[in-house]
Amino acid sequence: MIYLDNAASTQIHEDVLESMIPYLKEQYGNPSSIHRYGRISHKAIEKARKQIASLINAEPSEIILTSGGTESNNTALRGIAMKNPSSQIITSSIEHDAILEPCKELSKNGFEVIYLPVDNLGMVDLEYLKSTISKKTSLVSIMFGNNEVGTIQPISEISKICREHQTPFHTDAVQAIGKNPVDVRELGIDMLSISSHKLYGPKGVGALYVKNGIEFSPFILGGGQEHGLRSGTENVANIVGFGRACELAKNNLQENISHIKNLQESLIQQVLDEIPKVTLNGHPKFRLPPNVHFTFLGVNGEDLIIKLDEYGIAASTGSACSVNTQKASHVLQAMGFSHEQITGSLRLTIGIFNNQKEIDRTVDILKKVISELRAVSPFKEKYSFV
Ligand SMILES: Cc1ncc(COP(=O)(O)O)c(C=O)c1O
Repeated sequence: MIYLDNAASTQIHEDVLESMIPYLKEQYGNPSSIHRYGRISHKAIEKARKQIASLINAEPSEIILTSGGTESNNTALRGIAMKNPSSQIITSSIEHDAILEPCKELSKNGFEVIYLPVDNLGMVDLEYLKSTISKKTSLVSIMFGNNEVGTIQPISEISKICREHQTPFHTDAVQAIGKNPVDVRELGIDMLSISSHKLYGPKGVGALYVKNGIEFSPFILGGGQEHGLRSGTENVANIVGFGRACELAKNNLQENISHIKNLQESLIQQVLDEIPKVTLNGHPKFRLPPNVHFTFLGVNGEDLIIKLDEYGIAASTGSACSVNTQKASHVLQAMGFSHEQITGSLRLTIGIFNNQKEIDRTVDILKKVISELRAVSPFKEKYSFV
């Protein structure tokens, strides 16, 4: 198999797995226990917290451990909203469902939610942000890089606008962390969501960075872990693995980025050169290195995924997390795509374990599969496929 669905999830790194094993076997103490088993688990969590903080240039005290990106996003939105009843939240129309769904819920409960529009490259409208942000705004939440089309938002400019209005700025950086340099201090970010399984760590663990001084109402109440901000006995082995994954991401960041960027450029160029009637979606320059997203006119994306799977390639039409709902991509809709353009879309996301040979083979298979599907396409005449 050639795995090109690294935005959905990544292969766990061998070193990450190794770091977790002791905490799944002999080191099973509850981190809240006073005895030595407990102390060993507690120490392991604090080491991981430092590793996570270091990747984004935060303080360890600013890291709240969660069950992943979804919980981090929910905690940020609901936590700030609960502290500021009847306030306004500004987000964008191309966020992941882990932002859009809690926003829907908040608007049912008396909060005003503003969705910033985007242009046809997936860039948010900053003028719209400037004209809507006000004293009423309790949080601006704009994703760092889009999970479907890979467009990277102008994070520094957004944070500057928020700072001018003394409004906290949250970013869902689940797709960006470990793939793009992210420095929360330099970028002026107040809250940021991370997910371990997108950066070669285990699933079901993540973090919310909350800048010292930002206050929010805790979302999960109970035994008071994470300084009362997120209760529940910590998932020690997963947290240890997540920490190690962050450490590896930090140590190898530039090397990984340049490896993935080379493969990304090669894949994009070869497909655009060798396959007719294809467009690259998302921003050509401000783009997450792993992301490649095309529209092949006259092709049904789901048929394409199934065919590619038969040939040993794992790909996606968009967000794996919302694929069960079978709805047309809200991201491509917001970017103004027609139904046909949305239907013919394919996302390939590259990871550190991919190589040039796999990319070349993918292009060969794509050429073959696209021409097979176009030969039986109902749009055959319309686009005069040969
Ligand atoms: C942008 C974005 N945010 C949030 C999530 C949810 O993260 P998790 O799977 O850790 O809950 C995803 C998952 O695909 C994502 O791509």
